[in-house]
Amino acid sequence: MAKLAAKRLRILDYDDPNFDPRRTFDEGHGSALVVDPYPAILGLLAQGPVHKLDLAEMFGAPRDQTMAGLEHYTVLNYGGVRRAFSDSESFSPRLYKRNLGLAFGESIIVAMDDPDHRKLRNLVQKAFSPNELRRRAELVVTPVMNRLVDSFADKGRADLVGDFALHFPFHTIAAICALPEDEWPLFHRLAMGLTCISFDFPHAMEASQKLWDYFAAVLDEYRAHPGDDMISTLATAEIDGERLSDAEVVTFLRFLLNAGGDTTYRGFANMMTGLLTHPEQLEQVRADRSLIDKAMDEGLRWQAPILSLTRTPRRDLELEGVMLPEGACLHVCAASANRDPAAFEDAGRFDIHRAGPKPMSFGFGPHLCVGQPLARLEMRTALNALLDRLPNMRLDPSTPTPQIVGLGMRAPAALPVVFD
Ligand code: HEM
Repeated sequence: MAKLAAKRLRILDYDDPNFDPRRTFDEGHGSALVVDPYPAILGLLAQGPVHKLDLAEMFGAPRDQTMAGLEHYTVLNYGGVRRAFSDSESFSPRLYKRNLGLAFGESIIVAMDDPDHRKLRNLVQKAFSPNELRRRAELVVTPVMNRLVDSFADKGRADLVGDFALHFPFHTIAAICALPEDEWPLFHRLAMGLTCISFDFPHAMEASQKLWDYFAAVLDEYRAHPGDDMISTLATAEIDGERLSDAEVVTFLRFLLNAGGDTTYRGFANMMTGLLTHPEQLEQVRADRSLIDKAMDEGLRWQAPILSLTRTPRRDLELEGVMLPEGACLHVCAASANRDPAAFEDAGRFDIHRAGPKPMSFGFGPHLCVGQPLARLEMRTALNALLDRLPNMRLDPSTPTPQIVGLGMRAPAALPVVFD
């Protein structure tokens, strides 16, 4: 870890300490409104692969204010979604600059086109290489899981969301960045607030500014005394012989805290919902841990944590037989692609033994999730820890069957289990 000055800078909370970024985020993403979007999106898919509509409007959920004034289209089928992700000659992710770019920073990787994207991607990919992750696994991921499981292992019951999944992804990324541990909850609150940008501009921008004030002030020290942490890696990284600017480093750190901390919680909680509501498959995984990777794939396919992503056509062009105008907002629906009957047999069934094409939950093509190996490592370690330490873990029979909710981002609000 970099040796920071003795008088340590502290990260500041929102001016209103009662602001609840998780609730604002969930409300903005229609969590209370949308329990099961699949009948509607698969009904649409049956009528055609591409439609001129905004899914949020269709479900009566709040619309993304930053995309107002654009024409909205949605692509639903597996082939069309894969093309929108992978054909970067035709589709650009630059519309993210209108929403995520405001809060995370203009140089946000996921909104970049080549050649800038390729250069930054090559740089950060090194931090997620298999060797690097093996090292991090022992140093960070296993201790993070064990500490959290310690907090409930002797209680006989736990909420796998509130007590576990909500925390381990953020703890992992905070430890990889070597953020001061007593301040992890504050960093987590700010990271969550960034993604409220489309629904609560002031709080998202406040979170963005507070993270800037902190990181920009410490970067020179990390450059002078680099340590074995992600902030040092980014602060000293070079592209074409030039260091990343402060703004580029802080933008990437903001995105990492959020992308690392939020989506993995959803992916894990959705997989656990699948396994706990199909106890015979959970038993198979308990007995044969080599099935964990299949359970992850199936959990991510069955209930994608991010329902849809965004692209824009670079010119007037045709997608799956429908003409799209240049500059339109194209909703790329990973969730419906994962349930496309043309790609997956009996696609609504949760079946860890399923064979088939790759689900679209981590995206595809040049922007395929760079954190996927870390997310998989965390989910694998987390499930092993639960199976090793919570004998006979099962759904709490005194609570209602858990429901995966939300439109933009999906996960159960709680996952109560009991164990012996
Ligand atoms: C289950 C967990 C996760 C899911 C479902 C997920 C999903 C995604 C998706 C769908 C994209 C592509 C977005 C697009 O093309 O529009 C993406 C990109 C990205 N993800 Fe993840 N992610 C997960 C975990 C993580 C983790 C743990 C990290 C880092 C610690 C991370 C960092 C990133 C980054 C940096 C990008 C941008 C890559 C680029 O633009 O080249 N993600 N993720």
